[in-house]
Amino acid sequence: MTFVLGIAGSPRRGGNTELLLDAALEGAREAGAEVRKVVLDDLSYSGCTSCEGCQDGQRCVLDDDLQQVYGLIERADAIVLASPMYFEGLSSQAKALIDRGQLFWRRKYTLGLEGKKRRGAVIAVGARRNADFASALRPAKIWLLTLDADMTSLTFGGFEEKGSILDDADALEEARSLGRGLVERNIH
Ligand SMILES: Cc1cc2nc3c(=O)[nH]c(=O)nc-3n(C[C@H](O)[C@H](O)[C@H](O)COP(=O)(O)O)c2cc1C
Repeated sequence: MTFVLGIAGSPRRGGNTELLLDAALEGAREAGAEVRKVVLDDLSYSGCTSCEGCQDGQRCVLDDDLQQVYGLIERADAIVLASPMYFEGLSSQAKALIDRGQLFWRRKYTLGLEGKKRRGAVIAVGARRNADFASALRPAKIWLLTLDADMTSLTFGGFEEKGSILDDADALEEARSLGRGLVERNIH
C-alpha cells in the first residue's frame, strides 16, 4: 500500500496550510493510500548544526523529535510538505526540517547512495493575492530532489485569515486532487 506522509509547516493549528494538507491527505486516502500527518509545531527540534555527524550517512546525531520523522520520510512513497509563506520563504519550522535533510544530502551526493524513487508535492499559501512563491518553493524542491522525489506544487495567494481557504472550494478540491494524483500517478 502506498504510504503518503503529510508535513504541516504552520504553527497556526487548523489554519490554511493544515486545511489544504488535510484535503490532500484525504484525496490520497480516497485513492487507497495509508496516510500520516506530522505537525512540525508539535515537535521540538533544532535546525542543522553543521556538526558533520551525518557524514557517514548513518543518522543525524541530533537527538530530538525529528528522529521520529526521519523514519517516516524513509518509509514514505510520497511526501507532501505544506507551509505558509513567511517573508517570501517557507516557515522556519519547514526550513529547519529541510536543513536537517543534510543526512539525505550526504547519502545521495557525497556517498552516492541510491534512494527509493518517491513522489513529492509542496503546498504553499500566502496572504498576498499576487504573491510570488518562487523563493519559497526553491529550497523545498532541492530537498525533494535529495529525497529522490519529483515535485508537484500548488500555491495559493490571497488567504490571510485563519481558515479563509474554506471559502475557496476550488482550492480545497485542487489539494484533494493533488493527493489522489500522488497515489494514482506512477513515476517509476
Ligand atoms: C511571520 C509571517 C510572515 C508572513 N509573510 C508573508 C509573505 O511574505 N507573503 C505573504 O503573502 N503572506 C505572508 N504571511 C501571511 C501568511 O502566509 C498567511 O496568513 C497564510 O494564510 C498563513 O497560513 P496558516 O493559516 O496555515 O498559518 C506571513 C504571516 C506571518 C505570520
